[in-house]
Amino acid sequence: MRKKIIAGNWKMNMTPSKAVDLVNELKPLVVNDEVDVVFCVPAIDIIPVMEATKGTNIQVGAENMYFEDKGAYTGEISPEMLVDAGVKYVIIGHSERREYFAETDETVNKKILKAFEYGITPIICCGESLTQREQGITIDWIRQQIKIAFQNVTAEQAATAVIAYEPIWAIGTGKVATTEQAQEVCSAIRACIAEIYDEATAAAIRIQYGGSVSAASAPELFAQADIDGGLVGGASLKPDFGKIVNYNK
Ligand code: 13P
Repeated sequence: MRKKIIAGNWKMNMTPSKAVDLVNELKPLVVNDEVDVVFCVPAIDIIPVMEATKGTNIQVGAENMYFEDKGAYTGEISPEMLVDAGVKYVIIGHSERREYFAETDETVNKKILKAFEYGITPIICCGESLTQREQGITIDWIRQQIKIAFQNVTAEQAATAVIAYEPIWAIGTGKVATTEQAQEVCSAIRACIAEIYDEATAAAIRIQYGGSVSAASAPELFAQADIDGGLVGGASLKPDFGKIVNYNK
């Protein structure tokens, strides 16, 4: 049985001091033994958030990471820096990074391999645009993203990965994919993992839905057979995140 994983993606929000305030506000609200709770925060917030979440059930994640060990890459964050700070998860290939920061399936693959090398669990994002959905190529597109993302990743590593299916048209728009749409794609992703690896790997990997998840939509989404939790943007910055984490109560 896969444990649910519900992660907040703070994006470019919260100064270090505001981050600590938010953690203190959310801390008592996000307790749920049946769920892995992750706060993915801006790099500058990682250390204070790590401190503020000590002794809680909250795990801290990063929103990005570079694919080299270290060196002359001004402005980048290395995997070793994340490990040293105690980071366990890193979001890789968010559609905003693909759109605004020129990330490609190939750089996403390099980052995933590097994260595994350092023992950090990647939350691997995929998702189609509205045009692609209307053209009826959603599943083909997602399968391609997944196949490139997992190149040279071993079955053992893949089994521990998290995939976030985030339809681009549902991000920050208030337009949630229907439960059927979300389940259909998440099930196709699992089938794709079974093709690349085997049934056991497909059964172990956790697949999240992301895109305007709210306290109202979470229970039905997370009850789907192939949806193992969510990657939450806007609502992760509010007390509502506590309701999302406790979707089953
Ligand atoms: P929203 O929940 O704000 O739509 O953002 C989703 C997202 O991009 C999470 O990574």
